[in-house]
Amino acid sequence: MQTDLFGDASLFPSQQQLAEGVCLLSGQANSMMSAIWQAVEDVLRQAPLRQMQTPGGHTMSVAMSNCGELGWVSDRHGYRYSRLDPQSGRPWPAMPEVLQELARIWAAAAGFDNFVSNACLINCYQAGSKMSLHQDRDERDFAHPILTLSLGLPARFMLGGLQRKDPYRKLLLQHGDVLVFGGPARLCFHGIMPLADGEHALLGKRRISLTFRRA
Ligand code: SIN
Ligand code: FE2
Repeated sequence: MQTDLFGDASLFPSQQQLAEGVCLLSGQANSMMSAIWQAVEDVLRQAPLRQMQTPGGHTMSVAMSNCGELGWVSDRHGYRYSRLDPQSGRPWPAMPEVLQELARIWAAAAGFDNFVSNACLINCYQAGSKMSLHQDRDERDFAHPILTLSLGLPARFMLGGLQRKDPYRKLLLQHGDVLVFGGPARLCFHGIMPLADGEHALLGKRRISLTFRRA
């Protein structure tokens, strides 16, 4: 019998279905961490982290960069996906193959087949950095899930409902965790509570998340 290694759910023993369309793959990235981190550092050398402006004129507490065909950007004119890094005028760095492939495998483990991400937003949080409740709705096709990989310091992820006023759960996301939300949860409100101070062996005083999308 032919076994499909990556389609076999038993290979994801730490998989937890938290709600319909929401799946936490705990510690899933740990076995590949050195390749992942090397790929992230390589991207950040080409497109350094920077704090973007909101349309309202505030500076975001989270520093960001992107890789892939499209990158998420914010400035005084609004939020959008752009092929070019506004800081360099060049295309965003290509998405490293290892990241592209892992995102596909993890999405499939959560029940979303054929996830070919073309946009990976890299968020860097320091103590006190946060991301207010929001929906990810700048993408074209909500059939594809959102997948977020956590690196470094732990964070509390707020997982809300489809209305801003809905109550939210607080999920602890730790180094190597992958959270996938899609299907009926694709447009759920979500955010990150202010990051607590700490020191992580690999990343120091930071949390970096990689959010994979099909933009
Ligand atoms: C986001 O909602 O774009 C970021 C989530 C995260 O940092 O895990
Ligand atoms: Fe988001």
